[in-house]
Amino acid sequence: MLAFSRRLLSSASQQVRKLHTAAPLCSDHLFVHRHTADNNPDTPFEFSPENLKKAALIIKNYPEGHEAAACIPLLDLAQRQHGWTPLSAMHAVADLLKMPRMRVYEVATFYTMFNREPVGKYLVQMCTTTPCMLNGVGSDVILDCVKEELGIKVGETTKDGKFTLVEVECLGACVNGPMMQVNDKFYEDLTVEDTKKILDELKQGKWPVSGPQSGQDKRFSCEPKGGLTALNTPPRGPGFGMRSDL
Ligand code: FES
Repeated sequence: MLAFSRRLLSSASQQVRKLHTAAPLCSDHLFVHRHTADNNPDTPFEFSPENLKKAALIIKNYPEGHEAAACIPLLDLAQRQHGWTPLSAMHAVADLLKMPRMRVYEVATFYTMFNREPVGKYLVQMCTTTPCMLNGVGSDVILDCVKEELGIKVGETTKDGKFTLVEVECLGACVNGPMMQVNDKFYEDLTVEDTKKILDELKQGKWPVSGPQSGQDKRFSCEPKGGLTALNTPPRGPGFGMRSDL
């Protein structure tokens, strides 16, 4: 009887299927902060006088008592000044807005546009979401090209500190995929040749023309390359379809 129950138990345990065989990875980055030599509460950060004036204007956009709503724009201002967002910049924002530091940490760790580690002069964000993966040559091919041209993997920075490469989810230019964002500029409709040219120009310190690389004559923004297929008649005016006696 005992041997039978043991056999039952052991066969039951063999039938347990593991749902996960690896730790789920939610991002390239850690969402917890660890003090490092570059990023600790003593990392020097102070808003410049010019940015303090900008911060005061930003805060004025929000009603009295709701100044904390300026948290994201102020973190952005801090990041533009410093190049990335150290812990001490979050503290400066918390002090300006008179809000608990924890509230600022929550925002800065939630939004991946806040770089909590130093990044290169050019932050290359490569979109690898499905539309960019399927459009044109596909984002996989472009990503491989960027890796090869820069000699780094995703999440790394070049030795000269110029380029950091990250892989991101949809950046909202799906129609024009594959695309990548470099700092604030979008480069769309990418081919391998375009990508090499863009990176070459950046290496030379020039900013290539942003937008669709397929040629502004073919596509100015995100309209279809072959011309409009919908919304191609003049819009109907107010009152269309209404009874005339109303
Ligand atoms: S899928 Fe790449 S921008 Fe939307």
